[in-house]
Amino acid sequence: MHRKVKIAPSILSADFACLGDQVREAEMAGADLIHVDVMDGHFVPNITIGPIVVEALRKATTLPLDVHLMIENPEKYIENFAATGANMISVHIEASKHLHRLLQAIKAHAGIEAGVAINPATPVTNLEPILGELDFVLVMSVNPGFAGQEFIRASLDKIARLREMIAGQGRAIEIEVDGGIAPETAPDVIAAGADILVAGSAVFCSPNIGQAIRGLKEGAAL
Ligand code: DX5
Ligand code: ZN
Repeated sequence: MHRKVKIAPSILSADFACLGDQVREAEMAGADLIHVDVMDGHFVPNITIGPIVVEALRKATTLPLDVHLMIENPEKYIENFAATGANMISVHIEASKHLHRLLQAIKAHAGIEAGVAINPATPVTNLEPILGELDFVLVMSVNPGFAGQEFIRASLDKIARLREMIAGQGRAIEIEVDGGIAPETAPDVIAAGADILVAGSAVFCSPNIGQAIRGLKEGAAL
C-alpha cells in the first residue's frame, strides 16, 4: 500500500521565542501543514495561544494552518479563528453542544476545512450522524493537553474503524492522528488508515527539525 501521507508538525513543542524561524525550517524540510494547538485551561488543563499567534504564523509560512481547538464554548471563537487565515479548524466533539451548527459556522467560510476531534475515550461511532459534514476527523491518540505523551495503542483500532465508516461515504474525508507520533509509531498509524500525522516533540524536540520530518516521511513511504 502506498498512500500520500501528510506530516503536520505541532508548534506546541517549538521554541516560542523564535517561532517564525522554527516554522520556516519545518516548511523547508517538507512539512505539509502546520498544526496549531489552542488550549484554554478549561477543556484541557493547559493554556497555550489564541488567534493573534495564528495571525502571526500566517505571515511566517505559506503552508496550510491547521487549528486544533481544545477549548470550551468553541462557538464563541470560530469567527475569530476564521479571520486569522486558518485553513483547517477542528473542534472537539466533547466540547460541542450543537456540533452540526458549529460545523456549519466553520464551513460558512469558503476555503476553511471543518474537522471534529475525538478524545481517546470517545467511540468513532459518535461521528456517524455528522460524518457527511466533515472534511477531516482528528483522532487523538493521547489525552489532549500536553506534548510528549505516550501513544495509546487502542487508537489504531479506532482509525481502522473510521476508515471503514469513511469508505461508506463515497467521498474523501481525511483522518488526522495526533499524539505520540514518532518514527516507531508512525508506520502502524499509517497502516491503520491515517492521512495526516501530527508530530510535536518528535519534530521540534529533535536536534534537527529537517531530519525529524524526513524520518517521519520515510516511515510514511512504507
Ligand atoms: C496534544 C496536542 C498535540 C501535541 C502532540 O494535546 O493536541 O498536537 O502537540 O504532541 P506529541 O507529538 O509530542 O505527542
Ligand atoms: Zn493537536
